[in-house]
Amino acid sequence: MDKYAVFGNPIKHSKSPVIHTQFAGQFNSVIEYRAILAELSEFESTVMEFFAQGGLGANVTLPFKERAYQLAGQLTERARLAGAVNTLMPQTDGSILGDNTDGAGLVADLLRHIETLSGATVLLIGAGGAARGCVYPLLQAGAASVVIANRTAEKAQQLAQLFAEYGEVQGVALNDIPDKHYDLVINSTSSSVTGQVPDVDPLHVSSCALAYDMFYSDQQTAFLAWVTEYNAKAHCVDGMGMLVGQAAEAFALWRGQTPEIAPVLSAMKEGRL
Ligand code: ATR
Repeated sequence: MDKYAVFGNPIKHSKSPVIHTQFAGQFNSVIEYRAILAELSEFESTVMEFFAQGGLGANVTLPFKERAYQLAGQLTERARLAGAVNTLMPQTDGSILGDNTDGAGLVADLLRHIETLSGATVLLIGAGGAARGCVYPLLQAGAASVVIANRTAEKAQQLAQLFAEYGEVQGVALNDIPDKHYDLVINSTSSSVTGQVPDVDPLHVSSCALAYDMFYSDQQTAFLAWVTEYNAKAHCVDGMGMLVGQAAEAFALWRGQTPEIAPVLSAMKEGRL
């Protein structure tokens, strides 16, 4: 049976095994997909052992995405620009290819909720690893401009500099966001984890058509509840679709078949998976 796995620490609550098993089922295939806890000091050897035993592909989650980037002998352009790898695949020449499907997963999910990203003005809140992974995919999908706003302004400015050659990108402090209409507002900060909302003037979310929180939970996230308060018309979407979307991209890379996101996402939302 074709073997895949996700490596992380912690890893117990990973949804990846059920998601990939469902994807395989869409093509009448059966795969083995395990969640493997990698000890902090043994990530590289654990992954290499898995490939040595015939593993065909691996996902990597926190806190190992930067180490997976180092481990990969070859990188896709989007992984190079993200500075992190969430998908590994051994090549026939023995090298390991590193990809980052997080941003593409986000874009795929966004496009299920808005017709196009072409010409879109984007406000991206946060400048950590999650933000870095999606700037290039957003620009590639046609976003006209991306304003990156972060509590620590320097990090937003550094990120903007990194992507300046790919489109109109600006890095600002949370209290220095340009007053203009944003079609799309994305929260990439980890603030929702603790039920907090980034300290942003609600004016900036008052006219967006779509608000997206990369975080998800059983209940509406603090960020999306806050947006709804100031913009009842905004379509509010949490990051569960991004999770399924990044998995679909990885599955396609490994197996050459592109699975459907919608049925798996519905099953997860309804608690059936
Ligand atoms: P990730 O890989 O999930 O992006 P990270 O690299 O640790 O995680 O980045 C976390 C992001 O959330 C950062 O942009 C952080 O802002 P700072 O760079 O100023 O630390 C942001 N963040 C976390 N908690 C926040 C809060 N309560 N309000 C605003 N921003 C917050």
